[in-house]
Amino acid sequence: MVWAYIENGADDERTLRENRAAYRDWYLSQRVLTRTADVDLTTTVAGTRLGLPVVVAPVGLAGAAHWHGDLGLARAAEQNGTRMVLSSASTYGIEEVARGAGAHHWFQLYPWRNRSLMASLLDRARDSGYTALFVTVDVPVYGNRLRERRTGMGIPPTLTPRRVLEAALRPRWVYGYLRHRRTTLRNLVSDGARADSVGSVEVQSENLTADIGWDDLEWIRSRWDGPLFVKGVLHPDDAERVVDLGADGVVVSNHGGRQLNAVQPTVRALPAVVRRVGHRAEVLVDGGIRSGADAVVAVALGARACLVGRPAVYGLAGGGERGVAAVLRILREEMVRALTMMGVSGPGELTPAHLTPVGDRAD
Ligand code: FNR
Repeated sequence: MVWAYIENGADDERTLRENRAAYRDWYLSQRVLTRTADVDLTTTVAGTRLGLPVVVAPVGLAGAAHWHGDLGLARAAEQNGTRMVLSSASTYGIEEVARGAGAHHWFQLYPWRNRSLMASLLDRARDSGYTALFVTVDVPVYGNRLRERRTGMGIPPTLTPRRVLEAALRPRWVYGYLRHRRTTLRNLVSDGARADSVGSVEVQSENLTADIGWDDLEWIRSRWDGPLFVKGVLHPDDAERVVDLGADGVVVSNHGGRQLNAVQPTVRALPAVVRRVGHRAEVLVDGGIRSGADAVVAVALGARACLVGRPAVYGLAGGGERGVAAVLRILREEMVRALTMMGVSGPGELTPAHLTPVGDRAD
């Protein structure tokens, strides 16, 4: 059940698959004898200096993968000199992560129906030291995630014979689940919303509304002084309007293929957004990034940094905080190795000229 929740996309999962596949449309450009011995991956996003252009994406219900949950994601990000975006559907509270982490992180908000709930989350995020806000705008309704529906995603899980058997085969997961109980949506619980024993689908549908518009984003902008990113933008016209409204950046994202299926893979949508707003806003991208080479392609196409969702959750599920730290370390090492062999000393130097489109023949 947890695996289906993490892994699935919407409908027939075309966008989920193509997010990854679209990175295969590019080759990296190898250069030799370049004396590139000191690749430096440092970059700046939202006024924060990062050790690599990879950020941990907001993921709801992270505690279902491992009880280290959001705190594990935050600490692992720090160990690698980067940051995490805390989901508003997190399993550790805003303050808990701020207290347990060693650096300031960033906060993600859905434009929910309930403005006083949003206001309270924004105040709590600001008061506990989160420096940037990511507003996720691609969930006016919950995507049609069939694998999640088929497995009857819910917390606590209803007991079926199959689940009892699965639990018996995974005693460590059951121990972590029962001992630490990191599977409730703490931010909502402490705000009195009904979120103590329900799955993500119900929580979302209680709070989500398709009746949101640009005025809601304006309202959020007026309530948040720090850097603001709008996540879930694919169309350059939307990117432009978001930046006109005062956002500092956009995240080109289709929610990891979990929302509107059959939309463009994000790496395809990225260049047009960069052309439109890249000169006056920070453009980030996520979806399908699984290797350092993928991250190099994203940055070469104009992204200031990329976010990883599932890779971080896989690390969390496999080894808690250490697992996530290993995932980020591997991505960092892969980026350094790739840039060394491309003769590029850092992300700021990467341009589309460092890529060759598949099918482009030099003859
Ligand atoms: C997500 N994503 C997400 N996004 C968001 O803004 N708020 C959220 O609470 C969540 N929750 C969530 C849970 C899980 C299990 C996944 C896999 C994803 C989307 C996430 O931030 C990001 O856009 C995608 O995960 C990026 O695609 P990859 O890296 O998973 O391919």
